[in-house]
Parts: sequence; structure tokens; C-alpha cells
Amino acid sequence: MKAVVVEHFGGLEEVKMADVPKPSPAKGEVLIRIRDAGVNPVDWKIGEGALKDKMPHEFPLILGWDAAGEIAEVGEGVKGFKVGDAVFAYCRKQVVRHGTFAEYIALDAKYAAIKPKSLNFAEAAAIPLVALTAWQSLFGFARLKEGDTCFISAGAGGVGSFAIQFAKWKKATVYTTASSNHHGYVKSLGADHVIDYNKEDFAEAIMKHEPQGLDVVYDCVGGSTLRASFPLVKKGGSLVSIVNFNVEELGKSYPIRTGFVFVAPNGEQLATIAGLIDQGAIKPAHTEELKLEEAVLALKKVKAGHTQGKIVLKVS
Ligand SMILES: NC(=O)c1ccc[n+]([C@@H]2O[C@H](COP(=O)([O-])OP(=O)(O)OC[C@H]3O[C@@H](n4cnc5c(N)ncnc54)[C@H](OP(=O)(O)O)[C@@H]3O)[C@@H](O)[C@H]2O)c1
Repeated sequence: MKAVVVEHFGGLEEVKMADVPKPSPAKGEVLIRIRDAGVNPVDWKIGEGALKDKMPHEFPLILGWDAAGEIAEVGEGVKGFKVGDAVFAYCRKQVVRHGTFAEYIALDAKYAAIKPKSLNFAEAAAIPLVALTAWQSLFGFARLKEGDTCFISAGAGGVGSFAIQFAKWKKATVYTTASSNHHGYVKSLGADHVIDYNKEDFAEAIMKHEPQGLDVVYDCVGGSTLRASFPLVKKGGSLVSIVNFNVEELGKSYPIRTGFVFVAPNGEQLATIAGLIDQGAIKPAHTEELKLEEAVLALKKVKAGHTQGKIVLKVS
């Protein structure tokens, strides 16, 4: 099958098309014929070797962790899926080797869920990693509840596109940051207050509206944005980062809960999210589709850091 691989870590010029063996499903796995694969910042980070000491890996390494497609084969012992089912999945495995920028992936059936019926494969492939991240951060670590106030940085990005909508679904008040050209987009997702972080000090702007502090801060940017976010959280509130592993250390002098979330594959949560999408409670992210052969271009665009919503690769 055709796939996008790296044979050793280096710059994105090392990323190339290759012919690799088609996998077979083991016990408990399904084989997915991939139609579209979502592109995430982690993909260029993996290709460049930025996470090589954090996760075991093997070469040739097929990039990509998000997929939407059809079940092509069902392994022994799998219940709940049959050949031909349209599914989507966040496909991170213990060893980074078999990714989704390929025609097929064999995957633990527990990671997959039936694709939202109202979406095409491209829109569905843009969902799993980012929507699960937002779900596990806001409802897992931060315990966001009805009526809370929250700040979500990078609202126009992949994670932000779902975090804003999940928070509004919980009837929270949402502050977010985005460049001016993305303000219409984040407002269409439901953001109540949008701050252009290029033109204004976002922390000052939020404190003006919420002098008593926020219940939840969701950090999708890290660095100086994270450091400026700690004082925004009210005593006993929560700050969750998906960028800075050392958020607890950085925030230890504040009287708040802090934590890092690393998204875990979860087919049940994906099925819940698919249900919300089919009910019309949650919309798909803005999605740009490129060809699998344009993977390097897609990775460069994502690395540039100003994507609106998501980029996906058309595989078959
Ligand atoms: N820990 C985990 O499990 C996990 C999971 C998913 C993602 N992540 C990480 O979380 C980060 C966000 O992921 P993503 O998929 O949402 O990325 P993304 O889609 O590439 O985010 C792009 C967005 O970031 C915004 N942005 C860039 N710099 C900003 C700043 N200083 N302030 C506010 N917004 C800014 C851009 O907004 P404008 O163009 O409007 O400026 C753009 O819309 C990445 O670093 C990713 O690796 C971690």
C-alpha cells in the first residue's frame, strides 16, 4: 500500500511516499481502509524527532494519528463492527510506527467509533485527536460545569474549534484568542468574547471583564501565553495545558489545580461526540482537504501555526 513515511528523523524534507506492506488485523483489531487522514501538529513534531525520547518508535515510520474510513476486515473476537462500516478513530499506538497517512491501518477496535452520519470522511477525519483532547481536558481534568467561565487559547485551531463548542454545550461563558482574520470563525463556534492576541494583552482584557477570575483556563499555546494565564484562574479553579508538560511546576505558587493532559484513544468518547454532531449540537471544524501526496505541504502549513480548523489528506 502507499504511505507517507520517514526512515530517520530529520527535517520535513525527509518525509516521503513509499510502498509498504498492507497490515492484517490481529485479535481484537479491525483493519480500516482509510479515506481521509487528519493532520495534527504532533505529526511534524514526530517527523522531526522532537518526541523521540518520549515515545518508542520504529522505522520506517508511517506518520499520522487520525483517520476516517471503512472497515475492511474484522479480527478475531471483535464485536460491534462489520466489514463496510464507516468509522473514525484516533489511532496512536504504544510504539509509533503504523500511522494513518496510508491506505490501511490495523487498529484496536476499542479505539474506533462509527463515523457521524451527517459528515463526509474529510470532516470526520478532522475530529478524533482534537475533539478527544478537548473532551478529556475540559470534562476530565478541568471538570468544567454548567455556567462556568473559561478562557480557551488558540480558539481557531483544531483543539480550540471543539473546545469552544464543548464549553458552550455546557453553557459556559467562553473567552478565546485568535488573530482578527479568524474572529468570524470562532464567533460562529459560539465564543462569547474574542481577543486579538496580536493587538491586545489578552490577560488584561479578560481581567477587565472577570476581575474575580475564571473557573477554567484551557492552555493550547503554552510558553508566555501559559505563564500569563495562571493569574486569570480564581482560587480553587483549574488550569489545564496540552502544551507544557511542566505546567504543575510552573503554576505551583498559585492556589489552583494545574495539570497536563496527553490525549488517550477512546472509542466510547468518540461515539458520544459523534452523537452530539449528528444531533446538531456540535459542528465539524473548518476543514481543508489536500492530497496524500501533498503531505509535506500539509505538515508545513500546520507547522506555520495559523491553520483555521483542520487540514486533512485525501487517501483513497
Ligand atoms: N497534549 C495533547 O494531547 C495534545 C493534543 C492535541 C494538540 N496538542 C498541542 O496543542 C497545540 C494546539 O493544537 P492544535 O491542533 O489546536 O493546533 P493548530 O490547529 O495548529 O493551532 C493553530 C492555531 O493556533 C493559533 N495560535 C498560534 N499562536 C497563538 C497564540 N500565541 N495565541 C493564540 N492563538 C495562537 C492560530 O490562531 P491565529 O491564526 O488566529 O493566530 C491557529 O488558528 C499544539 O502545540 C499541539 O501539538 C497537544
